[in-house]
Amino acid sequence: MMFQATVLTLYPEMFPGPLGISLAGRALAEGKWSLDAVQIRDYATDKHRSVDDTPAGGGAGMVMRADVLAAAIDGTAKPGVPLLAMTPRGRPLRQERVRTLAEGPGVAILCGRFEGIDQRLFEGREIEEVSIGDYVLSGGETAAIVLLDACIRLLPGVMGAASSGDEESFEAGLLEYPHYTRPQMWEGRTIPEVLRSGDHAAIKAWRVSRAEIDTRLRRPDLWERHIGARVQSPSGAR
Ligand code: ADE
Repeated sequence: MMFQATVLTLYPEMFPGPLGISLAGRALAEGKWSLDAVQIRDYATDKHRSVDDTPAGGGAGMVMRADVLAAAIDGTAKPGVPLLAMTPRGRPLRQERVRTLAEGPGVAILCGRFEGIDQRLFEGREIEEVSIGDYVLSGGETAAIVLLDACIRLLPGVMGAASSGDEESFEAGLLEYPHYTRPQMWEGRTIPEVLRSGDHAAIKAWRVSRAEIDTRLRRPDLWERHIGARVQSPSGAR
């Protein structure tokens, strides 16, 4: 069963965009996932087809209308497919959520524009607000592309051998170890000797060690999480 992506947006022409090329584009052409980019404005009801209005209480910018968004959601909902809204107010996206979404039937994604979305929409519909990081984009569309890209590469048959996964960054809760390739000598720098030793156990140990060191130094937040997860793990790895 193919992974069904629905995107609710004021700019459907932004899709598939980068998801139409390379890995994701090939998978789309092969029917491993589908994409429906829905124009929110098609669900507007007044003669100006308005989708936004001025903020209650005053202030700059415009707010997306709950009634129009609800009509778009209700008119496109697929049973069992979770509905997400991309917004900087959402829960930070992590690989674990991506993996769970990729294992499901698909995802519907509401892309915010303007200053935000009428809060009553989140009270009247089951919507998971998701952020892709602590910075502000001009709209949720590029964030939706990021989320979909992360899901699609995990779909069965999309990535082939490289997708075995558990060695990767974040799958293990660590940054990935650094990579090298030929030439053996570049600008006076060599490839670490162990990687040329043919000793697979030693190579594995070096990679784990580098992943741990680099995570501790670069991402103390991830390191703390990794250590905490190990202590609490029922398998008792410590
Ligand atoms: N829309 C605007 N900024 C965003 C962010 N950081 N994450 C998700 N959606 C957004």
